[in-house]
Amino acid sequence: MEKIQYNLPQDRIPQAWYNIAADLPKPMAPPLHPGTRKPLGPDDLAPLFPMSLIQQEVSVEREIEIPGEVRQVYAQWRPSPLFRARRLEKALDTPAHIYYKNEGVSPAGSHKPNTAVPQAFYNKQAGTKRLSTETGAGQWGSSLAMACAFFGMECKVYMVRVSYDQKPYRRALMEAFGASVTASPSIETEVGRNILSQHPDSNGSLGIAISEAVEIAAKDPHTKYALGSVLNHVMLHQTVIGLEAIEQMALAGEEPDVIMACTGGGSNFAGLAMPYIGRNLKGQSHARVVAVEPAACPSLTKGQFTYDFGDTGHLTPLVKMHTLGSTFMPPGIHAGGLRYHGMAPLVSHVMDLGLIEATSVQQLDAFAAGIQFARAEGIVPAPESNHAIAGAIYEALEAKREGKPRTILFNLAEEIAMALAGLPAVL
Ligand SMILES: Cc1ncc(COP(=O)(O)O)c(C=O)c1O
Repeated sequence: MEKIQYNLPQDRIPQAWYNIAADLPKPMAPPLHPGTRKPLGPDDLAPLFPMSLIQQEVSVEREIEIPGEVRQVYAQWRPSPLFRARRLEKALDTPAHIYYKNEGVSPAGSHKPNTAVPQAFYNKQAGTKRLSTETGAGQWGSSLAMACAFFGMECKVYMVRVSYDQKPYRRALMEAFGASVTASPSIETEVGRNILSQHPDSNGSLGIAISEAVEIAAKDPHTKYALGSVLNHVMLHQTVIGLEAIEQMALAGEEPDVIMACTGGGSNFAGLAMPYIGRNLKGQSHARVVAVEPAACPSLTKGQFTYDFGDTGHLTPLVKMHTLGSTFMPPGIHAGGLRYHGMAPLVSHVMDLGLIEATSVQQLDAFAAGIQFARAEGIVPAPESNHAIAGAIYEALEAKREGKPRTILFNLAEEIAMALAGLPAVL
């Protein structure tokens, strides 16, 4: 029988996250205070995050130990499986070998719980009673809602209005985990009221929902804020993906030539890519690392690398990143998680250093790739992951055209929406 899965036992869940800041040839530009425009100090972030996460945000230690309690929760789904897509290879009639790391096996269906769990853990340790956050299509909100349920905290989610109306089953999932979900923009915050007074029919955006969640955290000493992407500590937590993949590719006896993942805020990409970029920097591998983004929201391929706000209400620090501008309103593409005006400063930095490449895919091409993958492999991917699949299929067809084999590795999350479509809108 041909081998399809390369899996690790539970005790191979990584002991430490990998922090690429220790190996970067040039340090990242510091975040700036939105008022003074001077570099931020740890105390500036203290109203929003517990000190343990702030320390991770600025750490240059190579390895940061994963607390035992977090590894124990990771064991609900980690190590996640690595598949060889032999059926897709046959369908494409390519000499390329295609592998995918399946983060879709997590309880919420994506990579997002990898950071939701440690963020909830460190907040609980610091005495936080409630976490506030934003969500687009609901993958991040449901991951944080689950993590808060595990650690006994309240969870308040501002969900982008258009998704709140279109995806009631995602709202039901968050409510099932005990979260309170409000459509954004809302009348609960100053930012929301201002926007509604000018645009009463606003569809909302991730930038607006972030402003609302930050505002209530800044005003309430018992509430802290959690972000599902963009920040350094989020990229750090996601490195469990790449660290496991390196061991699993060794089980398969192959070294990837090309590594691909979709990029919205950058965490799915960073999780798989950063451990491999670290190996490239040490000369242990020479993989090309490619970020795949939607043509409708092309921050890495068309944005400017400059200081910008992370949100629409301009409450967040200024960070140096590839950005389309904080007022950019991405069109309502289905890959809701990729509709963000900026890119993680860490991903932007490695792009600026020439350590990664970026490409963009049109929505219909991404869908076609997802359908081809589903019919070959039997997994319906999340719309966001379709972008990585489109990139992988392009590489596999290039291998065929050139008559040169190559090994491709990409990151996958699953579409859980259909399975949940039958749930009532309000529980
Ligand atoms: C399944 C999935 N993939 C990707 C993303 C994009 O975010 P990031 O680039 O941080 O992984 C999201 C965001 O919500 C998502 O839900």
